[in-house]
Amino acid sequence: MTTFSFKSALSFSIPEIAALFTRGFEGYFVPVQMTDVALQTMIRRDGVDLAESRILFKDDEPIGVALIARRGWTSRLAAMGIVTEARNGGIGTWAMKQLIEEARARAEKEMFLEVIEQNTAGVKLYQKVGFETVRRLVGYKLENPQGKSKGKLEEIDIRDLAKLISAHGLKDLPWQLSGETIAQHTPPSRAYRLDDAYCLISNPEAEQVVISSVLVKAGSRGAGLSPVLMRAVFSRFPNKTWRVPAIFPEEMSPIFEEVGMKREELSQLQMALTL
Ligand SMILES: CC(C)(COP(=O)(O)OP(=O)(O)OC[C@H]1O[C@@H](n2cnc3c(N)ncnc32)[C@H](O)[C@@H]1OP(=O)(O)O)[C@@H](O)C(=O)NCCC(=O)NCCS
Repeated sequence: MTTFSFKSALSFSIPEIAALFTRGFEGYFVPVQMTDVALQTMIRRDGVDLAESRILFKDDEPIGVALIARRGWTSRLAAMGIVTEARNGGIGTWAMKQLIEEARARAEKEMFLEVIEQNTAGVKLYQKVGFETVRRLVGYKLENPQGKSKGKLEEIDIRDLAKLISAHGLKDLPWQLSGETIAQHTPPSRAYRLDDAYCLISNPEAEQVVISSVLVKAGSRGAGLSPVLMRAVFSRFPNKTWRVPAIFPEEMSPIFEEVGMKREELSQLQMALTL
């Protein structure tokens, strides 16, 4: 009879966890090649607790990884991947039930996750163990936007943007957009302000630039400030491909559509479980 078990990720090295992560996401919707540096950045930025994260075993073989991020009363399944040959054999369900029990035992109140909406196995699994959809998360893309903008951008410290997001952002923002996560971003990413609109972008020297946050202060919404800011950023760094990862609440989609960005096919579901 097969037996499932797990061990704390703390007793494994970063290269070992990264290698298992890559195998666990083989054949995924987007190619995943986890490097040691990318894993370390994810741990630091997203508040992953390696002591509470788990390496999954089928009999004596390590066959998967489940990363758990934690902040106050809340935790998040930051990633779960099972190697192809062990999928669809019940270990995903077994692991989720254990992880939920462990979160309860830590006296946490809520657990979050995001899953690609088109990932049938993932969505089914999370619903089965009790997660409910909070909202759809969408992504956008735009190649080489044209047009000049005379808006004057001011570069600000990413930490100051993070404080504003905590004060003015939606209260239940997805984990990666929260003020706590944004505060962990560092150069070469940059934060800009124009009037009462703010954004965070990845290294603008690269060919592809990721928009990691867009915020308009609460009292200034509805005045069209965000397109002015985004056009100013596009025009400051010409000839780029701009990407908005599928972590933005669908209710924010008008701000990306207004500047001509095209919706990505893959979307995610933000899901929550009251513990
Ligand atoms: C998603 C994943 C973690 C699920 O783990 P698993 O061990 O395969 O899950 P289980 O065997 O417990 O199956 C969970 C449910 O999904 C269903 N399922 C599994 N694979 C499926 C597939 N390819 N298509 C449709 N349903 C599938 C199972 O039938 C089961 O539902 P049931 O209990 O009603 O029968 C695993 O498939 C995986 O690692 N995939 C690649 C990485 C990934 O997608 N991670 C999740 C990102 S958040």
